[in-house]
Amino acid sequence: MSAQILSGREAADALLAKLKPEVKKLDPKLVIVQVGDHPASASYIKQKLKSCDAVGMRHEHMHLDAKISLDKLMQTIDKLNTDADVTGFIVQLPLPKHLEASVPQIIKAIDPKKDVDGFGAYNLGKTFLSVDFEHLPPATPAGVIELLSYYKIPIEGKHAVIVGRSNIVGKPLAVMLLNRGATITVCHSRTKDLTSITKQADILCAAVGKAKMITKDMVKPGAVIIDIGVSRDEEGLKGDVDFEAVQEIASAITPVPGGVGPMTVASLIRNCVRAKERQLSH
Ligand code: GUN
Repeated sequence: MSAQILSGREAADALLAKLKPEVKKLDPKLVIVQVGDHPASASYIKQKLKSCDAVGMRHEHMHLDAKISLDKLMQTIDKLNTDADVTGFIVQLPLPKHLEASVPQIIKAIDPKKDVDGFGAYNLGKTFLSVDFEHLPPATPAGVIELLSYYKIPIEGKHAVIVGRSNIVGKPLAVMLLNRGATITVCHSRTKDLTSITKQADILCAAVGKAKMITKDMVKPGAVIIDIGVSRDEEGLKGDVDFEAVQEIASAITPVPGGVGPMTVASLIRNCVRAKERQLSH
C-alpha cells in the first residue's frame, strides 16, 4: 500500500481561489515586518508575498535593520496599529538575538484586530473556546485543519498525536483538533517512550524541526501523517518524517515541501480577509 499524497499546493490554491473575490471586494492590506536577515525568513516572506499577489491582495514588506532597538520596533508596531489602511501585520520570527527575549512583549503590542498571525493571547484565547470563536487562529494549525478538510479526512473521534508543544503550532493545533472532537495526546522532548504513543495515532502530526525523526516503526499502519516540521541541510528543506519509508504504511501523508507550508500562507491570507471583514462591521 502506498499512501495518498496530501498536496498542500492543491488545497492552498483551492482556498486562495475562494478568497480572491473576497479580497477584491474588501481590499485588505497585509504588512510583513522583517527584522534582520534570518535565512529561513527570506524564503517564508517570499512565499507570503507571492500568494498575496496571486489573490491580488495589497502588501508591504518592511525590512528593518538587524540592530534596531526594542523601542524603535515598538514604535513601528504602534504606527501599524493606528494606520487605518493596514488591515493586519505580522512580525516575522525568529528575531535577532537581542530581541529574542522580548518576543512575548512584541506580540502583546500588536492590536488583536490586526494580529493576523493569531499569536497574541486574545486570539489564542478565542481559539481555545470553540470552533465558532476561532476568528484569527494561528496560520499553521489552521492550515492543517483546512488540509484535512480539503481531503475529507475525518477528525471527530480520532486519536490525534502531536509531537511538539510550541505556542504557535503544537499547542494551538491540539486545541483546534480537540474543538473538532479528536482525542489528543501532545508529546515533546521530555516524553518517555515516544514510539509507544505515536503508534496509537490515527492522525500523527510532527512539529519539531528535526529531520526524519518520525520513522516507519513509530507509525500505525493506515495512519494519516501531517509533517509540519522543517529543517534545512545542504540538500535543502527536510520534514520531520522519513517520508519514503513512512508512506509505505500510512494511508495519507503530506510532503515537504508542498504540504503544510502553502496551507500556512493561504491561512494567513484568509485571516487578513477575516480581519478586514470584522473591521468594516465595527
Ligand atoms: N516564522 C516561521 N513561521 C512563522 C509564522 O507563521 N509567522 C511569523 N510571524 N513568523 C514565522
